[in-house]
Amino acid sequence: MDNTTGFHALLEQITRTTHDLWIKGWAERNAGNISVRLAPDQIPGNPEKNSEWVACGFDAPELGGELFLFSGTGCYMRNVALHPECHLGVVELDGAGRRFRRVWGFTGGGRPTSEIAPHLRAHGARLQASGGADRVVMHAHTPCVIALTHCLDLDTARLTRLLWEMHTECIVVFPDGCGYIPWQLPGSLALGDATAEELRKRPMAVWQFHGTVGTGPDIDTVLGLMDTAEKAAQLYNLAAAAGGVRNKLSTEQLTTLARAFHVTPDPDILGAIQS
Ligand code: 13P
Ligand code: ZN
Repeated sequence: MDNTTGFHALLEQITRTTHDLWIKGWAERNAGNISVRLAPDQIPGNPEKNSEWVACGFDAPELGGELFLFSGTGCYMRNVALHPECHLGVVELDGAGRRFRRVWGFTGGGRPTSEIAPHLRAHGARLQASGGADRVVMHAHTPCVIALTHCLDLDTARLTRLLWEMHTECIVVFPDGCGYIPWQLPGSLALGDATAEELRKRPMAVWQFHGTVGTGPDIDTVLGLMDTAEKAAQLYNLAAAAGGVRNKLSTEQLTTLARAFHVTPDPDILGAIQS
């Protein structure tokens, strides 16, 4: 296979998705970022080999030698499709996962997202948890989920349970739940480490007062995952504004759904909080 074919197909998916993030209202200004751990058939042709190595500021030995496509720090999602080679870049990690260098894109001096630490920590966690299947990490400022974190006292069990109970699809789409990360400085290693701890058990987490981070094997799966959680949060907010949530999916109904769709919900969460 021509090894540029996969890369160009990936660029098309990314530029469509970055536009979607803008249209959905999840990406004001430079909000949101995407990274993809490239499969062998997604590596761009004629990669550059002369750019400077840059220290990551942390070690990610489990990702040593991998190539990642990143959205650039400061880039506006609504503009990515206009100049993908400027707003996106491919970087290679050194064997120790300690430094990276640009091999494609970021023309005009771009650099990977300021959330590079959470992204790489997320990739490390999901690489292990999914046996290598998960390659995409996406972060966006999902308004309804963020609003929930301002209104309610949450932890992973409470947040997951709320989302499952508000929308029939949720327990089927994310039976392992949605992690909850108390506020941390954006882009920090502390945020990355806390996120990775949740992502070792589940594909998605919510950052308090900030947004959602989703992971999965491909971009459509990840957008679908985050969108389903956001829809459930939106339903909660609509119901709360309309007078309060009187009825929600019961434990019995959630169990029936799980059986019918052959998923195994996190037992610590399904059993943790009785409706
Ligand atoms: P970047 O522009 O550096 O990707 O940051 C956007 C963002 O959402 C930070 O959390
Ligand atoms: Zn953000």
